[in-house]
Amino acid sequence: MSSPQYVLVTGATGFIGAHVVDVLLSRGLRVRGATRSPAKGEAMRNARPQYKDRLDFVQIRDFAQPGELSEAVAGGIDAVIHVASPFTYDTTDNEKELIIPAINGVKAVLSAAASSGSVKRVVVTSSFASVLDADRKDRANGVYFTYTGADWNPLTYEESADKATSAVIAYRGSKKFAEKAAWDFVAENKPSFDLVTLCPPMTFGPVAHPVAKTADLNESNAMLWKVASGEKPLPVARVPFWIDVRDLALAHVEALLHPEAGGQRYIPASPERFSYGKAAQIVVDHFEWAHGSVVPEDQPVDESHGVDGETAAKALGLQYKTFEQTVTDLVKQAKAMP
Ligand SMILES: NC(=O)c1ccc[n+]([C@@H]2O[C@H](COP(=O)([O-])OP(=O)(O)OC[C@H]3O[C@@H](n4cnc5c(N)ncnc54)[C@H](OP(=O)(O)O)[C@@H]3O)[C@@H](O)[C@H]2O)c1
Repeated sequence: MSSPQYVLVTGATGFIGAHVVDVLLSRGLRVRGATRSPAKGEAMRNARPQYKDRLDFVQIRDFAQPGELSEAVAGGIDAVIHVASPFTYDTTDNEKELIIPAINGVKAVLSAAASSGSVKRVVVTSSFASVLDADRKDRANGVYFTYTGADWNPLTYEESADKATSAVIAYRGSKKFAEKAAWDFVAENKPSFDLVTLCPPMTFGPVAHPVAKTADLNESNAMLWKVASGEKPLPVARVPFWIDVRDLALAHVEALLHPEAGGQRYIPASPERFSYGKAAQIVVDHFEWAHGSVVPEDQPVDESHGVDGETAAKALGLQYKTFEQTVTDLVKQAKAMP
């Protein structure tokens, strides 16, 4: 596989996508970001004047409209990092807002990449949500186990799309079925590109995309900001695994550049477990303004199972940041926002 030169990044104006864009640009690659909002694309370019000649944006209003995607992969695009997917728990219709757009997005991006003939690799941002088995028997039996890239969430489509289910379960389904659609597409169509999927857990850290105020922080960072703002009671983590966004961005770019990553499903994840109680302690230890308002709690951290972040670290050359660094870097940045 020759090294990519010009990479299409979907979700480029989002929390993870913007960091991916920055790592690609810092490596000398050309980047085309995809967004539904040209204004957000322009804001990203204006914030990176030194890269204006290597960063352009295309508008994709709706992944269900194939025309715009064909244009997005034209003009020499030789690799794609597909990050875009709805990630919010603020929904009224889970299937329409979370599940269908996630699946349509993957199918449309892969099918445009296959038609282009020039794309050699596609990296898809999946999620630990597509790995997690919340009812795994080992746990009930008290047997320690470690999640690896071979594990899949057993949710059925019907369970995740059920009107009575929560947005959290529907989001887990959206990521599982979108990622499955990607692997199925490659198996059925044997396109000219190979596929790598990344299944990160909760992702935190400083933002590189345009965020005007703390109320606009992405879903995962908004949880840390609640802690730093002194919200009580502290939120409780559903899963104790996490990764710093800068490590995850690097994982995306290395997954694109390492020829041997083709066909792999990785879980980039820090070996350190987190809780919002730990986050509160870090905030109090580092920021005097938080004394009095933020009250650390000794929250129990689930030690009944682990996650294999080591395979991704070895293959992609990652050195995971500490939770302390991630929390302090985000909180310092968010505190300066209106
Ligand atoms: N943050 C986490 O903790 C975490 C953990 C694991 C996996 N992930 C995955 O990482 C990816 C990015 O998450 P993020 O935290 O960076 O979220 P984000 O800040 O909300 O960014 C997602 C981007 O995707 C685009 N998007 C959202 N809904 C869309 C839709 N219906 N159609 C087309 N584009 C849409 C948006 O771009 P435009 O508005 O510019 O179109 C948005 O900037 C998602 O696939 C998510 O599932 C996130």
